[in-house]
Amino acid sequence: MTYSEVENVTGYIGNFKVTIRKKARYVDEKECNACGDCVKVCPSCTPDEYQMGFSTRKGIYIPFPQAVPSSYLIDMKTCLGNNPIACAKCQEVCEKKCIDFDAKDEVVTVDVGAIIVAVGNDVYDPTELDEYGYRSYENVITSMEFERLICAGGPTEGHFIRPSDRTRPKSIGFIQCVGSRSKKRGNPYCSNICCMNTIKDTVLLKDHYPDTDVKVFYMDIRAFGKGFEDLYMKSKDEGVHYVRGLPGEVEENPETGNLIVTVENTTTGKIEKHELELLVLSVGLLPRKDSDVVRQLLTLSRTSDGFLMESHPKLKPVDAPTRGVFLAGCAEAPKDVKDSVTQASAAAARANVILASDKLTVEAITAHIDPDLCKYCGLCVKVCPYKAITPTDRKKKIAPQVIEAACAGCGTCGAECPFDSISMRHFTDAQIYAQIDAILDTNSQDKVVVFACNWCSYAGGDFAGISRLQYPVSNRLIRTMCSGRVKDEFVLYAFRKGAPVVLVSGCHFADCHYIDANRQTQLRVEKLWDKLEKNGIRPERLQLEWISAAEGQKFAVVMKAVEELRQKVTAEEIEHTKEVLAPKPKKKPVEEAASSA
Ligand code: FES
Repeated sequence: MTYSEVENVTGYIGNFKVTIRKKARYVDEKECNACGDCVKVCPSCTPDEYQMGFSTRKGIYIPFPQAVPSSYLIDMKTCLGNNPIACAKCQEVCEKKCIDFDAKDEVVTVDVGAIIVAVGNDVYDPTELDEYGYRSYENVITSMEFERLICAGGPTEGHFIRPSDRTRPKSIGFIQCVGSRSKKRGNPYCSNICCMNTIKDTVLLKDHYPDTDVKVFYMDIRAFGKGFEDLYMKSKDEGVHYVRGLPGEVEENPETGNLIVTVENTTTGKIEKHELELLVLSVGLLPRKDSDVVRQLLTLSRTSDGFLMESHPKLKPVDAPTRGVFLAGCAEAPKDVKDSVTQASAAAARANVILASDKLTVEAITAHIDPDLCKYCGLCVKVCPYKAITPTDRKKKIAPQVIEAACAGCGTCGAECPFDSISMRHFTDAQIYAQIDAILDTNSQDKVVVFACNWCSYAGGDFAGISRLQYPVSNRLIRTMCSGRVKDEFVLYAFRKGAPVVLVSGCHFADCHYIDANRQTQLRVEKLWDKLEKNGIRPERLQLEWISAAEGQKFAVVMKAVEELRQKVTAEEIEHTKEVLAPKPKKKPVEEAASSA
């Protein structure tokens, strides 16, 4: 379904319901044979988005030559009017009577078993980089604009010209890493494709116009794929001049339209000036702006750079954290065509595993709600990152239910439930209390209770271990799948049992393997800090740290810090904590009646 938008997604792996708006094309795609008679008579003109504004298109158009289906559609924003009095010339000339100005959007719902997200990417707009003069100087263009100008299907049919005077430029420069690898000027990450794209462009230029002087200004060239280094060498052999250094300033010679590029050549250590007839900014890739809509529809997570996060970077690189959803292409991170095809093939294969089976086996670690204990508060529904708990109804006394196929087993619902009605299989309250007991039953004053999430902090501890890093023996780890599983009662129980210090640790924000469950951890710990303070207990005795699986070093440092903290906690403090946090004895019925009177 092209020219369509996903409006809503409900359900879970194997049983998704997707609502799709098929936008009205106003041209019957089955009847239209793309004869083009309508285009000839259409009086409306607007810049052609596909040609980066270098040419115009009509109000009735095919978005790009390879569009599927190969039939026209009407852009109602630019159409002069569907009122026959205003225009409707296309309708008059269309012999096959394909045009229907009364066409309406169609909303359809489809049942699907798996979803592949391949929303692509946007490109960086370098207008904010004053020093390069994009949009101020006509002959400064982006690599996307270059692609249109050199393409045989482009506005100039592949005759390469510069915008200011439509002559063929004899000297062309490329500036690399525009909007990439810089925290202050664009984005901190490498966009992955720009080096090879520029190398390919230089080879193309040299093939088409061998007399062109081509220069590339770069920080370093990342030609790491199969055959990439060969292409880089070919570009050099054909006479492309590579200058190591990113220009600090671009000026225009107003008479010639040429550009004067000032750059520090870091190989020679000299400041150089290069006069060029055209300058191409090799712009980086950005996450699509509207991918956030898809993210929310599918309850996916993002990495700090805004791309969609995979379930596990090494072991599940095409799976999204929501089961049954897979990622392909630049939705997940900047990548070239080959990598996108590889990932898309893998995503299709992973989706087929679901579609090919009658039954799905899900992980055993899921939540279970005891309807007899549930008081219908609905807190679990609110905090579940996967929307895996059905709504509750207090009036009708309908307890929520866990959709086990959708539950990922983070345990956030179990931690949040104030009535102990949710148990987490394999990480039950009883199992965790038993571990706290085992740690603190003897010499509790010498121990630090550490709750560590399976994927990051606990793995960070493992990494510290295999790296042979030393850390104090007083720290005793309790593994939970996610830091979101750590109930406030676990922490209070540890303090009541005499723990001098408790540490809750999990993945960094945006790294949590259960979408954003660790945000609930943060909220819960903040509430606990308030509670401790109100009871005269130093809040720093409860520590919260985000440690990733790769941060073995940080794990060891944190463990040393909490041990130092433990040594400063006095026996009196521990006793006072036990006292003030001790459960209040339940009042006898007589006392209750008296106090209420
Ligand atoms: Fe580590 Fe959620 S999985 S904090």
